[in-house]
Amino acid sequence: MPRVFSGIQPTGDPHIGNYFGAMRNYVRLGEEYGKNSIYCVVDLHAITNPAAYDPKTLAQRTFEMAVANFAAGLDPEKVVFFVQSQVPEHQELSWVFTALTPVGELERMTQYKDKAEQLESIPAGLLMYPVLMAADILLYKADTVPVGEDQTQHIELTRALARKFNHAYGETFPEPKAVYARDALRIPGVDGQGKMSKSKGESSTIGILEPLDSIWQKLRVAPTDPARVRRSDPGDPDKCLIGDYHKLFSDLPTIETVYEGCRTAGIGCVDCKKMLMQGITRELTPLQERAEGLRANPDWVRDALATGARQAREIARPVMEEVREKAGFLKL
Ligand code: TYM
Repeated sequence: MPRVFSGIQPTGDPHIGNYFGAMRNYVRLGEEYGKNSIYCVVDLHAITNPAAYDPKTLAQRTFEMAVANFAAGLDPEKVVFFVQSQVPEHQELSWVFTALTPVGELERMTQYKDKAEQLESIPAGLLMYPVLMAADILLYKADTVPVGEDQTQHIELTRALARKFNHAYGETFPEPKAVYARDALRIPGVDGQGKMSKSKGESSTIGILEPLDSIWQKLRVAPTDPARVRRSDPGDPDKCLIGDYHKLFSDLPTIETVYEGCRTAGIGCVDCKKMLMQGITRELTPLQERAEGLRANPDWVRDALATGARQAREIARPVMEEVREKAGFLKL
């Protein structure tokens, strides 16, 4: 039976990149693999980037990230869903892996380089981030990891660490594979400045829990194909992020209408954006209503997370015991 693991950082409101790139796959794989699909809010990762971490808001953001995932359809009765810091074995395994990881390999990670170059003083935790991520996955001996394309390098390191551990201490871990959402590998930011990313701030993201009028304000000013200077200029919907978003939110007849309309200048950019907004409203309204219901019932959310942590620990403990034994620690 395959085992699925993935994590999501509570560094800000989840956006449509997280949603289509990863969260919807959590739900889909959860339907298929039940309690062998394990997901967590990775709060220990979130404290590694001083630019995004505030101890005053971490707990609230962690709670909100859980709410967002439940609202998106993740059923804690069916899957295992918990908060990373509630299962201390993640940190324990991570430390064992740090002893196997060359610093040079960590310094070559592109996400590390991107974040580190914006900081004056770089916390060691930021460098160790991918080691903790490998521990998250391998602690459950997971072989399937639903993620967006930006995590590919981290999954490669996880595979290398599994091989290294197995070689040094005996066959223990599988070599996990990333699973991508076919149409949502790397969703562009609404500001037109590359990938949609929480760390780039609000102007890049469309939050799945964001008020619809705020989303519309961002779409209204979002860049479109620069070839369409005037309403009568034909455009190329494949070069337009509104075109990309239609593929996520609109039904096939609407996609065909706006793509054709863009190429022939039959539809203007504002109308195209309005049609997109209809799709966004259809997709996000029920999700936002479910989130409201969950916020009104915080005890249910807390209980679900506590149960999830217990279930995760039941799997994690024996694996950690096996690791301790194989790595040669004294057993009393
Ligand atoms: P995080 O919190 O940045 O993002 C959560 C998930 O969303 C995906 N994603 C995107 N997919 C498509 N287009 C985008 N624009 C986009 N932006 C984000 C990410 O690829 C991710 O799957 N390192 C991880 C968290 C993590 C983890 C793990 C993941 C910690 N431990 C173990 C898998 C397994 C991260 O920063 O995700």
